[in-house]
Amino acid sequence: MSRERGLDLYVRSIDVQADPDNIGVFLFREILMDLRIGDEAPNFTANTTEGRIDFHEWLGDDWGVFMSHPADFTPVCTTEIGRVANLKEEFRKRNAKPIVLSVGTKPGMVPIDSHREWIKDVNETQGANVDFPLVEDPNKEIADTYGMIHPNANDTLTVRSVFVIGPDKNIKLIISYPASTGRNFVEILRVIDSLQLTAKYQVATPVDWQHGQDCIVVPAVPTEDIPDKFPKGHTIIKEYLRTTPQPNL
Ligand code: BEZ
Repeated sequence: MSRERGLDLYVRSIDVQADPDNIGVFLFREILMDLRIGDEAPNFTANTTEGRIDFHEWLGDDWGVFMSHPADFTPVCTTEIGRVANLKEEFRKRNAKPIVLSVGTKPGMVPIDSHREWIKDVNETQGANVDFPLVEDPNKEIADTYGMIHPNANDTLTVRSVFVIGPDKNIKLIISYPASTGRNFVEILRVIDSLQLTAKYQVATPVDWQHGQDCIVVPAVPTEDIPDKFPKGHTIIKEYLRTTPQPNL
């Protein structure tokens, strides 16, 4: 991974300590960023199964779903990659591009070859046609930068992280699942629907919201402004809880 945009983007601070065994020698330890919603998604360049990419350039003006898988040739990951490939049309409708990082590659194989061999198994067993990039990260630098390795769970493999990244390259959603639990990609698409809607309209989406259901008018909109802003109608349940039909339908 190249840190082209400068180390400061990725390193929150550097811990400097005197080495007690060597007078005059200082130990430097990078404290990597713990990424949060609203932060810029760190850029990187890397080899992938779809060729070499600059992450931000590859994202372009689309949304990105950057997810980690603990290892190639593992059962849960195989079903997940297949599911993402089979949801291709749903990602496309939302202008969202999946991209995958897996640090656990087949011993003795070049990481990118391990990814390519694994994709063949995914396609065969899941009835899929994987055409999104699997990223090579031999030194785990990308995984470290994104905080995808949770050392108290496993100090060498990633957990199942999901980062949804907006067209502004900022992080909109972060979820971490343990290695033993496959993700629910329908839920991730649901959140993208909410993110895309709430980016355009002054609404929020209530519990368990699904595309097509009523939305909440955000508190910043005064009640007297609701009829103009939301001409489809509204309901006042409490002065702080006002709903309106989904505005973009
Ligand atoms: C899996 O993908 O099946 C898996 C990977 C790492 C740990 C446990 C399960």
